[in-house]
Amino acid sequence: MCGIVGYIGHRQAYPLLHAGLQCLEYRGYDSAGIAVQDSGTVHIAKTIGRVHSMQGPALPGTIGIGHTRWATHGIPSKENAHPHSDCTRKIAVVHNGIIENYRTLRDQLIADGHKFSSDTDTEVIAHLFESQYRHHQGKDRMLQSLLACLKALEGVWGIAVLHADHDELIVSRNGAPLLLGLGTNEQFVASDASPIIPHTRNIIYLDDLEIARLTREHIEVFDRQGRKKDKNIHEIKWSVEQAQKGGHAHFMLKEIHDQPLVAKQSLRIPIEANLKAHRFFLVACGTAWHAALIGKYLIEQLAGIPVTVEVASEFRYQNPIIGTGDLFIAISQSGETADTLAALRLAKQKGARTLGIINVLNSTIAREADDVIYTRAGMEVGVASTKAFLSQLIVLYQIAEKLSGKEIPGFDQLPELLDKFLQGDVVQAIAEKYSRAHGFLFIGRNIQYPVALEGALKLKEISYLHAEGYPAGELKHGPIALVTQEVPTVAICVRDPLYPKMISNIQEVRARNGAVLAIATEGDQEILHHANEVIFVPATDPLLAPFFTTVAVQLLAYHIANARECDIDKPRNLAKSVTVE
Ligand code: M6R
Repeated sequence: MCGIVGYIGHRQAYPLLHAGLQCLEYRGYDSAGIAVQDSGTVHIAKTIGRVHSMQGPALPGTIGIGHTRWATHGIPSKENAHPHSDCTRKIAVVHNGIIENYRTLRDQLIADGHKFSSDTDTEVIAHLFESQYRHHQGKDRMLQSLLACLKALEGVWGIAVLHADHDELIVSRNGAPLLLGLGTNEQFVASDASPIIPHTRNIIYLDDLEIARLTREHIEVFDRQGRKKDKNIHEIKWSVEQAQKGGHAHFMLKEIHDQPLVAKQSLRIPIEANLKAHRFFLVACGTAWHAALIGKYLIEQLAGIPVTVEVASEFRYQNPIIGTGDLFIAISQSGETADTLAALRLAKQKGARTLGIINVLNSTIAREADDVIYTRAGMEVGVASTKAFLSQLIVLYQIAEKLSGKEIPGFDQLPELLDKFLQGDVVQAIAEKYSRAHGFLFIGRNIQYPVALEGALKLKEISYLHAEGYPAGELKHGPIALVTQEVPTVAICVRDPLYPKMISNIQEVRARNGAVLAIATEGDQEILHHANEVIFVPATDPLLAPFFTTVAVQLLAYHIANARECDIDKPRNLAKSVTVE
């Protein structure tokens, strides 16, 4: 999830792009770069780290593109920083997203004589554009070249291209956001509105598979066949900060809504790590530990391989029985969590093979593990982890599928279903109604039990309400004593083989005058007789239900915390990454 900005106009581009990139740094900041076109030459400046560390004089020219990077392919380095160039150094490309077939394209382009200078997937776009550019002529040469490139690309992208000999920018999106800003004799493009709104508030939202040509005077939008399209111009009133959050009040809510895109980017990623083992150990902290608990269920149920799940801070001090033949998997968004890192080092010391499921490229755990699978959540800003959890689950599901050779029906429909579910946010009204509760119980069974834990954790973190996650069958062994009208129970009660058992647990709560908020499957009429409130999630294979019940508990926690006016993105006493023991 990188940030893109572009400018064409009468002003010097470099300072505008530099300022624009700083607005986009919440999307990633491991490196940055700017390309400016001037009298038939493309000048490029790059830096490792944040945009402000870009040194040297401003590049001259009135047409340019810039990028701030969240590394996915290739370590954070100057070589891998965008913009990327072709062999002639006349083309510059910035890209946000993932080109899934870049290896095949790269091999073909190398066989055709192209020389690559980075490890990124993006560089293939520059070389592909170069070869297509040779085959096209005339005033639409840039447009036709990009249209031809897009036919070869698979994956997710927001792309901006400039050429030394053309006074225009060509851009396209598929999956990753791209907005166009209309000025007077100057035009803008960016990943969100924040770099644009200091200059104009007239915005065109580019849709998937559209291409736009920006000249000083105009913006034209085309479909994939090169036919011109009419687009609405929206006047946006957001502040820069609101624009960074996509119009949402908090990064947490934006990141909840990022999840359909994260699912799209994460599905069918190559699982190339060596998974051969007699036993698996999944070790993590916090939300990542909840992902591990779901992973255990999947791997054991689908592949029949025994899995031990442990909280990292416990694992490291219990002299664990682990060694040769075992696979230790560390799950971590940051890749820097001190306890998870220490557990990994211990497992290595004891002779186990190690694998990291990590979001931050080149982080310590990613470097120290024998193998790594990167999740594709992009940068997560909110302290309460949401999209990183979803991306960890998607990797674990793919591991379980690979180990078992079975496919989970409907897995590929996840992005669309998540999108649909998020469009009808019914959770807010329920959350507001219960926001003055004294505490909450979350209950679930089997694969939904970790979701109950995750719901309770999310609520505790951001609303400061006491909440407990419990296996529903354990309720009567103690926590049911907490049930009062002021302590509602969130029952994760989807249509799966344990549905009747969950209904019994709900009745136990109702019999003690407790309120029940059920998270149930769309179309389930019976639940309406048992629960006080129902949040319906899409009907899917029960193995996929955790994706939706998780989003429901995320939204519930978010809206309760919001109604209580808590500092949602920076909850008290918490840090995004816990690098101390
Ligand atoms: O970076 P990690 O995934 O290793 O972080 C683990 C936990 O610190 C993290 O999940 C924490 O529990 C979150 N704040 C939960 O929302």
